[in-house]
Amino acid sequence: MKPAYEKPVIKKLHTGLMNKFGRSPAYARKVRRDIDGVAIEDLVAKFGSPLFVYSERTIRQRYRAMHTAFSTRYPNVVFGWSYKTNYLNALCALMHQQGSVAEVVSEMEYDKARALGVPGSKIIFNGPHKSPAALEKAAREGATINLDHLDELNDLEQVAHKLRRHVHVGIRLNLDAGVYPQWSRFGFNLESGQAMEAVKRIKSGGKLVLNGLHCHIGTFIMDATAYARQVAKMVAFGCEVEKAFGFAIESYDIGGGFPSRSQLKGVYLPPEVALPSTDQFAEAITHALSKALRPGDFPKLILESGRALVDEAGYLISTVVASKRLVDGTRAYVADAGVNLLFTANWYKFNIELDREVGGINEHSVIYGPLCMNIDVVDEGTLLPPLTRGTRLIVSPVGAYNHTQSMQFIEYRPASVLIGGTGEVDLIREAEDLGDITRREKLPKRLAVTGGGGK
Ligand SMILES: Cc1ncc(COP(=O)(O)O)c(C=O)c1O
Repeated sequence: MKPAYEKPVIKKLHTGLMNKFGRSPAYARKVRRDIDGVAIEDLVAKFGSPLFVYSERTIRQRYRAMHTAFSTRYPNVVFGWSYKTNYLNALCALMHQQGSVAEVVSEMEYDKARALGVPGSKIIFNGPHKSPAALEKAAREGATINLDHLDELNDLEQVAHKLRRHVHVGIRLNLDAGVYPQWSRFGFNLESGQAMEAVKRIKSGGKLVLNGLHCHIGTFIMDATAYARQVAKMVAFGCEVEKAFGFAIESYDIGGGFPSRSQLKGVYLPPEVALPSTDQFAEAITHALSKALRPGDFPKLILESGRALVDEAGYLISTVVASKRLVDGTRAYVADAGVNLLFTANWYKFNIELDREVGGINEHSVIYGPLCMNIDVVDEGTLLPPLTRGTRLIVSPVGAYNHTQSMQFIEYRPASVLIGGTGEVDLIREAEDLGDITRREKLPKRLAVTGGGGK
């Protein structure tokens, strides 16, 4: 086919920063015709575009690698699947099937885990907003509750009073592990004495029994030694509390925060160079733990890893719907998926692959999403050959925090599928339609629309 005529433009060349590592080979522009052996075209033909695609094989591999790294170094390891990272039922079920309990941060997530069949005793209930009713439900059902603030402590004491029994409880700590800016808004601060005050308050109330400590120092932590500092501080605090108040700390929950192999914007090195390996994290954590604990004492080590387990298992297939030249000559594409589905585009430079070989000169190009909003940018600058309408863009890794934060804004949310270990493709969430958007709306009779507005 003869290429369409285009008015020539003169553009200044931008070479960008020099990088002696070049781009990581794993993230170089590639052609991807399939995901786990299932053709992109077949996926789109059956389920439409855009489409979230998850690889069961990758999730199982990541889980196994991480679990092995910790359980071969420490005898009492529990994984708590962080629901907010991705709470599609099929993915949660996959995590539970592999032995994970549920880690939830709201009543909605708690209810979701229960509806999926997870017993309360296998739920860790975190988060800064737990209503008295949610606390009561969780206490009745035997969930592990980690308190975030004193108001919650008071509420849970009322629940214990109502239930006429002691309620076991953990507290969330925040502390200086060398990760800045420090996440100090959740839980009780260790260094200032807030956390000790909370323990004193629990003891004097006489209704709650402290048996766990929780702390999540942040997300996408790139330094394994930060966890070693965290663990040392948590265990020292636990020992102090045991001695002073007679509580027995049965679990140390160190949260999540392990990075996935995504490319953080502004990070010069590619992920495989910049990030410690899973084994390095496990080594730092378990070493610090065994140094700090009393010999022979093996309380539960709970990990609430989210993104590291699921991010690389997620892809978003999207389609080029238009190409244009901006007034400054920049090549731009409009895709059918934008920040409505890719919330993490704010922080990550995605790996964008094409479903076909495309000839022609690579040009610095911008990829916009479909929203009529200026902020809807999937990639503000990437080298692409001239793409035609209908080219599929396979965006990854997007398994973490994109589906859960996707917006029902302007566009319908698309379907999600899971590719099983033997290549079977299961629809795990249908594409939305107008019914999903309007189902909860009520139109007052007096506002019934008959024939539209105007004259
Ligand atoms: C309490 C808690 N646990 C676990 C996680 C999961 O974190 P990540 O996905 O970084 O592993 C989070 C996320 O912020 C969290 O707030």
